[in-house]
Amino acid sequence: MNWAKELVCPRTGTRDRLTKLHNLSPAGAPWLVEYELTRERGRRLLRSLARRPWTLWRYHELLPVEDPERRIDLGEGGTPLVELDSVLTQGHRVWLKQEAGNPTGSFKARGLSLAINRARELGAPGVRLPSAGNAAIAASAYAAACGMPCRVAVPADTPENVITRIRSYGARVDAVGKTLVESGQWLAEQAPELLDVSTLREPYRLEGKKTMGFELAEQFGWNLPEWILYPTGGGTGLIGIPKAFDELEALGLVGKRRPRMVSVQMSGCAPIVKAFHEGRDSAEPWLEPDTRVWGLRVPRAVGDFLVLRALRATHGTAIAVGEQDVEEAGRTLPKATGLEWGPEGAACWVAFQELVAGGKVEPDDRVVILQTGHPSNYG
Ligand SMILES: Cc1ncc(COP(=O)(O)O)c(C=O)c1O
Repeated sequence: MNWAKELVCPRTGTRDRLTKLHNLSPAGAPWLVEYELTRERGRRLLRSLARRPWTLWRYHELLPVEDPERRIDLGEGGTPLVELDSVLTQGHRVWLKQEAGNPTGSFKARGLSLAINRARELGAPGVRLPSAGNAAIAASAYAAACGMPCRVAVPADTPENVITRIRSYGARVDAVGKTLVESGQWLAEQAPELLDVSTLREPYRLEGKKTMGFELAEQFGWNLPEWILYPTGGGTGLIGIPKAFDELEALGLVGKRRPRMVSVQMSGCAPIVKAFHEGRDSAEPWLEPDTRVWGLRVPRAVGDFLVLRALRATHGTAIAVGEQDVEEAGRTLPKATGLEWGPEGAACWVAFQELVAGGKVEPDDRVVILQTGHPSNYG
């Protein structure tokens, strides 16, 4: 039994049923899943959690899967929260949410697990997506686990290792186009019959990503941290994590205070950062995306207005970081911490240092860096 009620369009408030396959709402916005939440349900959930294993399925009432007993489960979620040494953090309190341990080595497993479980429940003939790499690796693994066809298009300069990994799960992969947008357009023409599971184009990847919010709340003893730094491509987690906190508040498990959400992008592809600082409600497409941090090379995001809303609602901010600083951090951080750092996590570390240099972080503030992927995923 889950507590999901229906889908709501965040632009118009239009509603629709959960029981059919969806892409965007009629207004062209990502659908959001709404739940029926009460304090009594919150108390019941809290009592049950003590007995449940540490994967994202421990929150199954807050996930829109009809029959969680029959789910495809590769062990996604339940990732560690590791406090960094205070010498490294100049006395600040910083935790790494280490997402590299997810199945297929990145946090994309969370969203793709939910999207493909739902695609299977609703009878989709197969799935397709354009991806910079990690989402495609995750999609092909979950599709393989349900015996579902999967087609992927990656930009032409995607590292060979990524393509080999996608193929190893039996998905068909084509390397086409200069950017994700071009790859996606090509694939939609080639395989219109398959369900498009690209970022925010169906309602359920967001639901998987939001589970990072549930885990953070629980790992901090239901006392939310002050800052969360999120390496931003499509920005699913920047929408999903605050959504999770709102759901926990409705259940009576956390209070009104929210962490300040920080969008971190590369200076060679920073549409959200630009729009945030220009005070806009939506982001213009970034014309010549130029970064080797593949997960952040996303020139246009369909949920841009929701990301910008989340940054402003939480009094957060948006920071663009330089390619060389991130490369340097990627080299030094493993030695300094003994932890695995993908380039996207390293980008958040550089952004954290900028926040500190700007005097934004108070001594008692608790800062979370989402370390979203394993460095070896790129080769
Ligand atoms: C490792 C990693 N981090 C961050 C991102 C960006 O995630 P999102 O699209 O949710 O903003 C990606 C996207 O590909 C990624 O692979």
